Amino acid sequence: MINVSKIKKGIVLDHINEGQGYKLFSQLKLDEIEDVVVLLRNIPSRKMGKKDLIKIETDLLLDFTVLGLIDPDITVNIIENGEMVRKIKLQLPEKVTDIMKCKNPRCITNYEKVRHVEFTLSDPQKREYRCEYCDSPTSL
Ligand code: CTP
Ligand code: ZN
Repeated sequence: MINVSKIKKGIVLDHINEGQGYKLFSQLKLDEIEDVVVLLRNIPSRKMGKKDLIKIETDLLLDFTVLGLIDPDITVNIIENGEMVRKIKLQLPEKVTDIMKCKNPRCITNYEKVRHVEFTLSDPQKREYRCEYCDSPTSL
């Protein structure tokens, strides 16, 4: 298998469902950061059959709250001094912006350019959020 070296400092997103790595890479806008980033696809995994994985070598602590909504089963590993020091347990975020679009066709956010619309979690079971402008329920 291709050998991708361990990183010294940064973040490893592990256990990404097969085929979802590229989508995640785009959603997190990792093409816009200056740090070293690798996307590995189709890694053999005992638990998952195959999985994708993303490594980011960075000094920054990126905000991954949105991952809890995209896929709560992803493991976020924090690496320091070449060692895994923390695995972050993901949760459904209370508020999200930029990743959702209001499903109400008559909502102002769908006919005018409204930026950074905020959605607030209203039903965790249904993973449902409400639009700050029209209060309509929306899910990802
Ligand atoms: N990793 C890395 N650089 C390091 C340390 C770890 O890139 N310096 C990567 C490992 O390759 C692995 C992930 O971070 O993909 C998690 O590391 P670790 O917890 O040590 O591996 P596992 O025990 O396999 O994790 P899990 O139990 O979550 O499957
Ligand atoms: Zn709305």
